[in-house]
Amino acid sequence: KRPAGAPDKALARPVTKVGVVGAGLMASQLALLFARRLGVPVVMTDLDEDRVTRGVEYVHREVATLLEKRRVSPDQAAFLTRLVTGSTSKDGFADADLVIEAVFEEMSVKQQVFAEVEAVVGEECVLATNTSSLSVTEMAGGLAHPERVVGLHFFNPVAVMPLLEVIPGERTDDATLATAFAVGKGLRKTCVRSTDSASFVVNRLLGRFMGEYSRIVDEGTPVEVADRGVAGLAPMPPFVLLGLVGPAIALHNSATLHRAFGDRFHVSPTLRRIVEAGKRGWYATDERGRPVPDPEVEAM
Ligand code: 3HC
Repeated sequence: KRPAGAPDKALARPVTKVGVVGAGLMASQLALLFARRLGVPVVMTDLDEDRVTRGVEYVHREVATLLEKRRVSPDQAAFLTRLVTGSTSKDGFADADLVIEAVFEEMSVKQQVFAEVEAVVGEECVLATNTSSLSVTEMAGGLAHPERVVGLHFFNPVAVMPLLEVIPGERTDDATLATAFAVGKGLRKTCVRSTDSASFVVNRLLGRFMGEYSRIVDEGTPVEVADRGVAGLAPMPPFVLLGLVGPAIALHNSATLHRAFGDRFHVSPTLRRIVEAGKRGWYATDERGRPVPDPEVEAM
């Protein structure tokens, strides 16, 4: 059955090579997912060798874990390790059919990245953004071919979260959208077509939820009490989730939603201080890696 809002799948173009811009945690998770599920070469790029190396090493570690858990055979593990490569140059994107960006959540940065990618790729290459909140239409605005741009919004942890938001911009054409849905299906994700509005659908809902949580803690409730309040209702305590997503992304999201929809969305002053102080969130981790409230944040 065709997912709601997906164009005819006959319009989808084959994807035989993927480019990932960025080699951070989200980008590396994406690189592994594309290689594992589509079985195609994936080239990751970042600004310097160190970042690229860290991204590729992350993929290698995850492949080793899959092998330990017997989720892949030794041959598959070796194949996956070969499929994902890294570079500081975007030249490897020349024969890619899809390039997805997962760089810093800032419109001008993403527009610049897309302009650089467009200068390298072939005419039919789809340009996807993993933005969590920014306008796909605006991101495509300055390009020669805005019709090939689409939002593909994945969720943390990418390997296990089943949902993928597919977000067409105003000018996205049917072939691009059909390719996006076909890729999502190949990645074994449940695809939903979301509208190109601030934070799309999922993060807008999550933004209300997380905003109210932060407000409760900003008003003086201890973080552990707030987190225990949803035991059994949410798959993980909300402030542990915030640590997983990253406080900078969470802050950016709430600020985008506040700009678009006003006071319905709370921008937590504590969260802002957490980001400015370079903290991981309301929690630190103890010697066994378990989350414990961070006394420095509690004192903020
Ligand atoms: N990376 C890779 N795999 C992970 C992982 C991670 N960070 N965390 C957990 N997993 C895997 C485990 O290895 C395990 O796999 P296995 O079955 O092969 O062993 C599987 O997930 C289940 O893990 P666990 O049994 O340890 O734990 P849970 O049953 O508690 O599930 C969870 C973990 C799926 C992460 C669950 O807690 C959950 O659903 N949490 C909510 C996550 C969520 O809401 N994500 C959305 C965030 S919003 C976002 O990303 C949007 C962005 O734009 C901000």
